Amino acid sequence: HLTTAAQGHRGHTDDTGRTTAARSVTSLVADPNRTADVTVTLVARAQRFRLPTGRSVDGYTLNGASPGPAVHATVGQLVQVRLVNESVPGGITLHWHGVDVPNAEDGVAGVTQDAVGTGKSHVYRFVANQAGTFWYHSHQVSHEQVRRGLLGPLVVTPARRPPAGTVDVVALLHLYDGARTVNGREGDVRVAARPGDRVRVRVINTENGETPAWVGGAPFRLVAVDGTDVNEPSPVRDTAVMVTAGGRADIEVTMPEDGSPVRVHIGGPGGVVLGSRSYDAPAAPRPARTLDLLSYGAPEPIGFDPERADRRFTYEIGRRPGFLDGTPGVWWTVNGHLFPDVPMFMVAEHDVVRMRVSNHSGESHPMHLHGHHAVVLSRNGVRATGSPWWTDSLEVGNGESYDIAFVADNPGVWMDHCHNLPHAAEGLVAHLMYE
Ligand code: C2O
Ligand code: CU
Repeated sequence: HLTTAAQGHRGHTDDTGRTTAARSVTSLVADPNRTADVTVTLVARAQRFRLPTGRSVDGYTLNGASPGPAVHATVGQLVQVRLVNESVPGGITLHWHGVDVPNAEDGVAGVTQDAVGTGKSHVYRFVANQAGTFWYHSHQVSHEQVRRGLLGPLVVTPARRPPAGTVDVVALLHLYDGARTVNGREGDVRVAARPGDRVRVRVINTENGETPAWVGGAPFRLVAVDGTDVNEPSPVRDTAVMVTAGGRADIEVTMPEDGSPVRVHIGGPGGVVLGSRSYDAPAAPRPARTLDLLSYGAPEPIGFDPERADRRFTYEIGRRPGFLDGTPGVWWTVNGHLFPDVPMFMVAEHDVVRMRVSNHSGESHPMHLHGHHAVVLSRNGVRATGSPWWTDSLEVGNGESYDIAFVADNPGVWMDHCHNLPHAAEGLVAHLMYE
């Protein structure tokens, strides 16, 4: 049935009794007659390839390398990506992690499309409507295909040109055969930046675990999380930012006037070194302090009233011992159920949805909701007081409980799963479905 409380205060009802949206997904769907602004072909292969340091990896590439090429668009552009599977066994897809694309473009094998078999291709089209840092990856046997290299960065920038003295850097963290890399390199990525330049380092965590990032040699501001700007972020120093698995953190540094280099640590000694004359920036130890997003930045309206929620869900993560391929192991459960027997979270378009995500499973879980960004209302009963913290990838530690809220404004069937990808294969998957 279509009638929900949401219709009382969101959207309006036309004479057929259907609700029309304030923001409709049709604004995101690419007009089939429109010519794409950004056209990319990505050819996937199973092959041995070399990391820049010479280590050879047995994995999967896109256009001969991993990570695949960065896809860049400006807001409003129509992005068209042709995915060709030359030789990856078992089929592949591409999911646009953090981009609220129309459901048919979401790239979830078995849900929104069939996997693209060898010798086949598939075209994705979507309008990039939000500036931010995202990434793409295969969503077929993800725990294997992502680890082995089917991934790359996706950056959407505002249509206006950045002011002079702006430097924009992608720093994609990935583990290949145990080698921790940034942009496919072990060790430092060096980027030229002059005194006074404002450098935005877009940290993308494609690993299965949460990773700290911090800056040595200058204060910094955390300007965006999961592709969404932080409102009035203040400068911090000697503070680490935790980047959730699948999550993104945009760190902005203003280069010191004395010309000294700055080191942005990502997970360890390596990362991005910014310099003009030299890149001789000493390693800075990981700070003891961690930035708490619950209180960082300044409040601003979130655009809906979470107190008037139409749906209230609980997403309780637990564990259950069992057998995995015949050997004893652990299954992760949602509200006591194992995927695929987890009841769907049912919503209607325009609903204000609240969800309490709690975890008593003994391990931490980075929870990723497809197709939507949710605002964090509280953690363990402590209300958020800073900038609205919008997330698509939220680390829910063992023993923690988060209240989040979002507007159901993107009809379809959407996964809500753990981005520690082996955990998803071990059952930690649920779906949100529109009636
Ligand atoms: Cu980045 Cu469902 O995944
Ligand atoms: Cu998990």
